[in-house]
Amino acid sequence: MAESIAFTANADRKIIYDEIVPQIDSLVFGETDVVANLANIAAVLREAFGFFWVGFYVAKDGELVLGPFQGPLACTRIAFDAGVCGHAYTTRETVIVPNVNEFPGHIACATASKSEIVVPILNSDGTVFGVLDVDSDTLDDFSQTDADGLGRVVKTIERFI
Ligand code: SME
Repeated sequence: MAESIAFTANADRKIIYDEIVPQIDSLVFGETDVVANLANIAAVLREAFGFFWVGFYVAKDGELVLGPFQGPLACTRIAFDAGVCGHAYTTRETVIVPNVNEFPGHIACATASKSEIVVPILNSDGTVFGVLDVDSDTLDDFSQTDADGLGRVVKTIERFI
């Protein structure tokens, strides 16, 4: 297993996604432990993009429960119908929120969080495994480039869950 990743610092995000997705594929290849893989993926995304908060919420016991993450302390449990994470869980669609203060029901785990993207992760039977949640401390920080790039990361995750 590789123990470091290579990417072009300060490049456009599209370039960095193109660089890191194959490395994430290699990183998780042959490792079957879901927590270990999610933990390393959170670390890679934080290192490559400097995201304020990046991590996972996993559906269990009737709610979304905090999984591996990088960044400040976060809420441990989110109801399936609450916040941006709950919206992505319920709709099974990627949600981009340019200004979290304008999103009805947004859960303010950290007041510094200003914009957010959440990508649902689907099990092979079509049920929702959980979500990949990325928060930024600047407004309007996420675009279709992130939806596409993080969507590619989630496709890798869907192969080992
Ligand atoms: N902002 C999220 C909650 C999780 S944290 O941001 C880490 C939401 O409203 O779903």
